[in-house]
Amino acid sequence: GKGEHRHYMAKEIFEQPQVIGDSLNALVNPSTRAVSLPDLPFDLATVRRVTIVACGTSYYAGLVAKYWLESVARVPVDIDVASEFRYREPVLEDGGLALFISQSGETADTLAALRYCKEHGQHVVSLVNVPESTMARESHAILQTLAGPEIGVASTKAFTTQLTVLACLTLAVARARGAISAAREAELSQALIEVPARAGEVLNHDERIRAIAEDVMLARDVLYLGRGASYPIALEGALKLKEISYIHAEGYAAGEMKHGPIALIDDSVPVVVIAPGDSLLDKTISNVQETVARGGRVIAFSDADGVERMKDSAVYSITLPAVDPFVAPILYAIPVQLLAYHVAVLKGTDVDQPRNLAKSVTVE
Ligand code: F6R
Repeated sequence: GKGEHRHYMAKEIFEQPQVIGDSLNALVNPSTRAVSLPDLPFDLATVRRVTIVACGTSYYAGLVAKYWLESVARVPVDIDVASEFRYREPVLEDGGLALFISQSGETADTLAALRYCKEHGQHVVSLVNVPESTMARESHAILQTLAGPEIGVASTKAFTTQLTVLACLTLAVARARGAISAAREAELSQALIEVPARAGEVLNHDERIRAIAEDVMLARDVLYLGRGASYPIALEGALKLKEISYIHAEGYAAGEMKHGPIALIDDSVPVVVIAPGDSLLDKTISNVQETVARGGRVIAFSDADGVERMKDSAVYSITLPAVDPFVAPILYAIPVQLLAYHVAVLKGTDVDQPRNLAKSVTVE
């Protein structure tokens, strides 16, 4: 049941500290506190290229993983949505790792892409929430999110647990390739181990985000901006808002604003900025200033330092915990979920069963 919550989506958002912890505990050795993946039928050290394929929110989890795998594990990554990948005759070198991300494990296009990769000499690994699913059965190995059943059509806890497992995979690949020092690996594992506690702190902003939603619900269009691994979180925030509140929303890489989208900015367009305290914060803040100069109304999600630096630009801001930038995507996913949720509730839409959408897309 929904417990104390009005909707499954709210229950699932608030379960995140627990299920992120469960997903992590399954992959972190309790005595060494190091990540250890289940045994794989191939050697991660031999993987020269990773191909990631998924749809929707699961695709955005893969997009975050691309940033992680390239910057931390130094392995080249290709990523595509399954409905494009499967028809574009992608070139795959033997022995690559093909990674399929799917909550349900049944998404038709992702499954077709999986079969293509299997026929083309890839080591096929699926990251699924349903271990009995078709994709799990057809893969050489599986990684599992322990999110428990997700009932709300809009994916929430599946996404953050996917990110959690993908962060673990990144550390395992980095170690196998000798791309990370033991000290840095220990720092990143420690940051991951602390995510459930930090996620709990993020959820404490629920009331304040509901207040921001009272403003956002009046908008016709909403933009979401982020750079680096926060760019997929901007895309996910926009997807969440459009699918449950039916407000038009777009996510953009913050640096792309001046190449077109900035023409959309006026004082009727809220601009949600995903701005963790990473090496890209300065650049994101300049994009915020450009937006404000054109009348845009900025809603900033950042840490205390970022919020302070945007205090004259942002109409609203939410101060998230200061964390290692590596884990920021997991935590910054939560306020965008809450914002979409509250806007939808205020608009009175069917939050758990949005129009035209199905939980599992088994048709092409
Ligand atoms: C969005 C959403 C969808 C799914 C997509 C893939 O909130 O839930 O975009 O992420 O349909 O589904 P799975 O992960 O089951 O393959």
